[in-house]
Amino acid sequence: MGTFRVVTDAPPAPPRCAPVLVVSSNKGGVGKTTLAVNLAIYVRALLEDLPVLAVGLDDQETLDRMFALGLHKSGERNLKHGWAQRSLEGVIQLGEYGVYFVPSPPDVSLLKGRAENPLTLRRILESTAWRGIIVIDTKADLEALTLNAFHAADRILIPVADWGSLEEAAKTFRILERSTLGVRRARVVFTLVDRRARAAAGSTLFHALLEEVRRRGWNYYKTYLSRSPRVEVLNSGSSTPLSILHHARGTAVHAQMRELTQEVLQDLGLARFAEAADAPGEGPSILWGKRRLAAATPRRSTAKSGVANFLGALRRP
Ligand SMILES: Nc1ncnc2c1ncn2[C@@H]1O[C@H](COP(=O)(O)OP(=O)(O)OP(=O)(O)O)[C@@H](O)[C@H]1O
Ligand SMILES: [Mg+2]
Repeated sequence: MGTFRVVTDAPPAPPRCAPVLVVSSNKGGVGKTTLAVNLAIYVRALLEDLPVLAVGLDDQETLDRMFALGLHKSGERNLKHGWAQRSLEGVIQLGEYGVYFVPSPPDVSLLKGRAENPLTLRRILESTAWRGIIVIDTKADLEALTLNAFHAADRILIPVADWGSLEEAAKTFRILERSTLGVRRARVVFTLVDRRARAAAGSTLFHALLEEVRRRGWNYYKTYLSRSPRVEVLNSGSSTPLSILHHARGTAVHAQMRELTQEVLQDLGLARFAEAADAPGEGPSILWGKRRLAAATPRRSTAKSGVANFLGALRRP
């Protein structure tokens, strides 16, 4: 694992109100939602003064089942209302694990009809002026809402689990290349990795995929996520998916999620804050078992934290 690295060191997109991470693949079932929701939780735990907002451009409602604190109330304001208002203020809820989220719309096709301008989501997020990180999960398509997410993204995380998803990743890279966005904000994340799985030429499937990603010159995160029966149970064992951080500590996937989150934060220029949070005596982190994170009750900082300062510096006047 330690020998791989991000191929080029692209600077983040021009500073806006908050770093935006988008998880996207045109292939279904590659672990997008699992990555997005758990990334939100690990960022939250690593940088406890940094509010984390999770948004799903999907109507599968996995994100809602993961984060909602109570039962869904009919008439509850959701992403559709935020889209109409051109701001997510008023639709953001505080959820499980201290992660904020926007309830998913019951039907994304209506929203898609209002997403022809690919800059709409970016403008909505700008006027929301969220003081933290935003993690966006997308549907398995490359349609209007996903394109909106690309235009809002500082980083686009593209899960690659097999040859099919690698070819679908190629479509995303092509779209980025042909648009004004460019490929520098895209990063492959290897997901559902089974190091025993063999490729045709005798090497492992993982190494074959890795070689191909390198050959194509795509940026990738060195930390991969293994296929794990434990994660499958956390996701599917009940109607409420459970966090890897809180329910699978001591597993390889937990260590990988932690490492991947650190890698992403480093890539965003936020790593030094994560390091400070992990330092002895300063550690808020559940990751290293120092204390439990109070679910849904983020601690209020009286003093302005380093992270808040950092985000303040990002903010446009
Ligand atoms: N690390 C993992 N180990 C084992 N199973 C996993 C892992 N990550 C995801 N899964 C399982 O793979 C399936 C697909 O995961 P997930 O829903 O996250 O993918 P997705 O790309 O969001 O799918 P969709 O395209 O339908 O939105 C689910 O059954 C999930 O439980
Ligand atoms: Mg999904």
